Amino acid sequence: MESGFGVGQLRAAARDAVRAPSMHNSQPWRFRLREGGIEVAVDPDRRLPAADPSGWAARIAGGAALFNLRLSLAVAGTPARVRLRPYPGEPDVLARLVPDVPRAPTPAQRSLHAAVARRFSHRAPFWPNPVPAEARWRLVEAARAEQGWLELVIGVSAVNAFAALAQSAHRVLDRDRAYRDELAGWVRGGPAPDGVPAAAGGPVAQPQDLLPSRAFGVRERAPGRDFEPEPLVAVLGAAGNTATDQVVAGQALQRVLLTATDAGLAVSLLSQPIEVPAAREALRLSLGRFGTPQMVLRVGYGQPGWPVGRRDVEEFLDLPVRRR
Ligand SMILES: Cc1cc2nc3c(=O)[nH]c(=O)nc-3n(C[C@H](O)[C@H](O)[C@H](O)COP(=O)(O)O)c2cc1C
Repeated sequence: MESGFGVGQLRAAARDAVRAPSMHNSQPWRFRLREGGIEVAVDPDRRLPAADPSGWAARIAGGAALFNLRLSLAVAGTPARVRLRPYPGEPDVLARLVPDVPRAPTPAQRSLHAAVARRFSHRAPFWPNPVPAEARWRLVEAARAEQGWLELVIGVSAVNAFAALAQSAHRVLDRDRAYRDELAGWVRGGPAPDGVPAAAGGPVAQPQDLLPSRAFGVRERAPGRDFEPEPLVAVLGAAGNTATDQVVAGQALQRVLLTATDAGLAVSLLSQPIEVPAAREALRLSLGRFGTPQMVLRVGYGQPGWPVGRRDVEEFLDLPVRRR
């Protein structure tokens, strides 16, 4: 067993980690080496005060980045042992990774890793093809493998009830001036190292849309290209809603997203019903299950697209100072 991770390993794994999703593509994470361990922390300078006052979204993003980091290290043959939120006095440190026994990656790890650079958030209408049962099963299993859960919202009336809840949460958020202004501040006119380029933002919302969408986009949709009438909606959750549960949910989310990418599926993220506490509670009750919803996904077959930009990996690293 190695005594600790090195700078080269951190840098290579962080390149994968930063491909994780984050609210408004804010990339609120930092990676550092401390006593041979890699630590993943929330970057307090990149919090979203209006949309994420509690830090939930930053911890989901951090958990997703942590999953990529673990996967990257595993595929390099240097898997890690992980402790979540290791220091009670440093709540922004989400995880500490130390080297485990080196071993060759599994084929499943290689496939998921190959999906890291291909995954991106879809926001356009999906094709009408249904998601096969086998793929649905894989997504549910992916969440479970990371101690999360994924509940598929099945049936027209359940989807309609969810849609009403999501639309009302969207309206609550949209009434908040600070929330709207903050979101507008993350929309980019073209390719950028952070934020959401308008071209990736999906079509402008229309009154007939079943589900709400964030106002990132400026594109009007082509005639006849409405959203699918019966979307496959899935709610991802964790056992509870502590900060640690949210990091767990972030890891489960990323495993689900990479599994979906590997299966040729597209996913939209939809967090309005999670952000509004009353909506989240209503969603929890409607599912009638133990645990707390942490994210909502719309899953289907989408048009090809591209991942949006990330800041240079060096901007996220805190490296020990060394003489050259
Ligand atoms: C906590 C969280 C909440 C998000 N909420 C939404 C959302 O409500 N609508 C949306 O279109 N995308 C949402 N996203 C997706 C981000 O906008 C997206 O991950 C980011 O812009 C980076 O783009 P990429 O996923 O294509 O790499 C969310 C992501 C996270 C982590």
